[in-house]
Amino acid sequence: MDASFVLLSGDGIGPEIVSQAKRVLQLVSDKFGHKFRFDEHLIGGIAIDETGDPLPQATIDACRASQAVLLGAVGGPKWDDPSAKTRPEAGLLRIRKELQLFANLRPIRPFAELLDASPLKREVVEGTDILFYRELTGGIYFGPSSCEDLPGGQQRATSTMVYETFEIERIFRLAAEAARSRRGKLTMVDKANVLEVSRLWRRVCGRLASSEYCDLDYDVVLVDAMAMHLISRPSSFDVVVTSNLFGDILTDEASMLPGSLGMLPSASVGANGPGLFEPIHGSAPDIAGKGIANPLATILAAAMMLRHSVGLQQEADAVEAAVQAVLAAGHRTSDLARRGEKAIGTVEMTEHVLAALSRQ
Ligand code: IPM
Ligand code: MG
Repeated sequence: MDASFVLLSGDGIGPEIVSQAKRVLQLVSDKFGHKFRFDEHLIGGIAIDETGDPLPQATIDACRASQAVLLGAVGGPKWDDPSAKTRPEAGLLRIRKELQLFANLRPIRPFAELLDASPLKREVVEGTDILFYRELTGGIYFGPSSCEDLPGGQQRATSTMVYETFEIERIFRLAAEAARSRRGKLTMVDKANVLEVSRLWRRVCGRLASSEYCDLDYDVVLVDAMAMHLISRPSSFDVVVTSNLFGDILTDEASMLPGSLGMLPSASVGANGPGLFEPIHGSAPDIAGKGIANPLATILAAAMMLRHSVGLQQEADAVEAAVQAVLAAGHRTSDLARRGEKAIGTVEMTEHVLAALSRQ
C-alpha cells in the first residue's frame, strides 16, 4: 500500500514522541511491504513563532491531501499570555473544524501489566474497557461567545452551548455502530435535568436507540453522576457517547484509570477525509527536551491511524502487541516506573518496541 501521512509534532515533548512513532511506522512499512510517505508541518506554538498563525494554510492543505494526520501536542507556558492575540490551542480547534472531525474516540483499557500503577484499587479497575465517543466540532467550544465591558469596571462574558439534531445523530450513529461490534452496551451522558441542549440530546438519542438501534443495551446517565461512576464502577461501561465539553472532562478523568496518561491514544474522525490521531496527553513542557517522555501513547495512536485510516488491521495489531510485549518484559518510562524500578528514556523505550515488532 502507498500511503501519505502528515506529521504535526507541535510543541513541548511533541517532536520527541512523534519522531519515535515515525520510526515505528517506518518499520511497519518495511516489514509489511508498504510505502509510507511522511510530510512534516507546523501547528501550535511553534507555528505562531514561525508564521504568526497556529494553523498555517500550508498545514491545512497538506492535511487535506493526506490519508491521515499524526499529531504530537500543542501549547506551553511560552504562549500562555491571556492577552495574546492567538493561542496554540486555537490551531487544534481549527484543524478539527477544517477537517470536520466530529467524533473523538478515546479508548480506556488499562494494560494488565500496569494495573498497580493506577491510583484506584486493582479490583475496581480490572476489566475496564471503555470507548468514549466525544462530539468534537460543536457545543460550547464553537457556540457564539462574547465579553463586554459593563459600568463600574465589571465585565460580562458568555459562552453558548449549541447543538443541532444532525450533529447529535451522526455521533450517536458512530457510537452505536461501535457498541454493536463490541459488547452491545451504549451509555449517553448529558445534563438533561438542567440544560435545554441536553434535553435535545436525550430526545434525539432516545429516538435512535429505540428505532434503529433497539438491539443495544442503551442507558442515559447525568454527567455529575457519571463522574462518580467512572471511579466507582468503571468496568460496567462499554461505549459512552457525549457532547464536546462533557467528553473533554470525563476523558481526562477516565485517563487516570490506566495509571498514566502516557499510555492513551485517541482518534478524531469525520464522515470522510483524513482522520487525526494523537496521544491524549499534552505537551508536558516540564519534561520537554529531557528525553524521558513516554512515547507509547503516540505509538498506539499511530496504530489506531493504521487501523482506522488505511485499514491496516494486522499492522495495527502488530504494533499494539509489540507495546504489550515491552510492558510485559518490564520496561518502564519514568511516568510508569514505581519506586525502585528502573526508568528508561523515550528512545530506549521505542527501541524495545522496534525490537519486539521485528521479532513478530
Ligand atoms: C483535548 C484538549 C483540548 C480540548 C484543548 C487543548 C483545547 O484538552 O483534546 O482534550 O479541550 O479539546
Ligand atoms: Mg482535554
